[in-house]
Amino acid sequence: MSKEAIWDIAAHTSVKHDLLRTYLGAWFPILGKFNRRVVFMDGFAGPGRYLNGEPGSPAIALGTFLDHNYAANLSGTEYIFVFTENHAERFASLEQVVEAERVARGGWPEHVKVIVENKNFTEVAEDILGSLGHKDLAPTFAFLDPFGYKDVPMDVIRRLMSYSKSELFIYFDINSLNRFATAGQQVDVHFEALYGTTEFKNAPAAGDPGRQQFLHDLYERQLKNVCGFKHVRSFEMLGANGKAINYLFFCTNSSVGFDRMKGAMWKAAPSGDFRFRDSLGGQPVLFQPEPDTAPLQSQLLETFAGKTVDISTLADFVVTSTPYVSSHLKTRTLVPLQLAGKISSPNQRRPKQFPPGTQVTFPSLPAIATD
Ligand SMILES: C[S@@+](CC[C@H](N)C(=O)[O-])C[C@H]1O[C@@H](n2cnc3c(N)ncnc32)[C@H](O)[C@@H]1O
Repeated sequence: MSKEAIWDIAAHTSVKHDLLRTYLGAWFPILGKFNRRVVFMDGFAGPGRYLNGEPGSPAIALGTFLDHNYAANLSGTEYIFVFTENHAERFASLEQVVEAERVARGGWPEHVKVIVENKNFTEVAEDILGSLGHKDLAPTFAFLDPFGYKDVPMDVIRRLMSYSKSELFIYFDINSLNRFATAGQQVDVHFEALYGTTEFKNAPAAGDPGRQQFLHDLYERQLKNVCGFKHVRSFEMLGANGKAINYLFFCTNSSVGFDRMKGAMWKAAPSGDFRFRDSLGGQPVLFQPEPDTAPLQSQLLETFAGKTVDISTLADFVVTSTPYVSSHLKTRTLVPLQLAGKISSPNQRRPKQFPPGTQVTFPSLPAIATD
């Protein structure tokens, strides 16, 4: 097998795999409970393994599902795994990996179907969409992990994700976008498809400090507006030199799913080679084992200034509007605010305890002096 077909695994790939493992470990059983069919689609599947035998994303998805005892408990639900890889040699490797997995397991369980296609992602997505009426679309988790910006059209994603329980986890190669976004006619067609608009042409010129943010924000907006996802969040992966390697966008309509994926990010401990970053209220938020909740404390004080709100409102806010997860709210955020005398509660039975029904009062913001 050539070097072009199989390569060394990079640190940022391993962490992407950790996120998939953690998240799918929760997603498969949750979706399987309430649906007759669930689809995992890996649209840019790769060769199935890396140079030293590390598993690629298809094997990780299959293993996450099949190695858990709930797989047998969910036999009333059909699980379909679709892997597409357009490169002939990588596809041959992927097929071997999937076949070896099938044989090692004595065949797939009856409720599991595995489809491996040597085609472009869009072709397979169109085939699936063409063969189904809208009402037959199943909850789909699409993992789209392209090398660059080609063949990930917004319109195909919109249609593939039109079922409300579907979710998207997509790699956004900001460096190649930054380089090529306004390179002209040859790439315009790809960018127009990627963004589903020609607005990328308004990006600040190469070298302008606002260019990367513009390209990122436009994509985020399009995922919300065109695909209709309620929750869209990007996670910036930084390399050892502190520069962005890429973004991972996660899109869902479920606040539980959103909380879980952010939880997976917080769990993916940073190494010397990478770390994840997001921001809140203009302050950077680094995903690290000991979360720094100062940005969340400031944001709560600002958002709820002068109000008394139920603890559930605060939990919703943390989940839907910040990089933090629901479990960061009480001990790590409200307790220090209370100890510092910055919040109070009209109905709290015991200080530092915030059971359901607890009301939290935030002081008004100090008036800004004007002269
Ligand atoms: C980043 S690699 C995938 C790695 C894999 N997802 C993993 O995590 O192990 C991207 C793969 O997408 C394939 N690819 C590129 N364009 C494609 C397309 N239009 N349709 C399907 N596969 C494509 C490439 O050949 C390459 O193997």
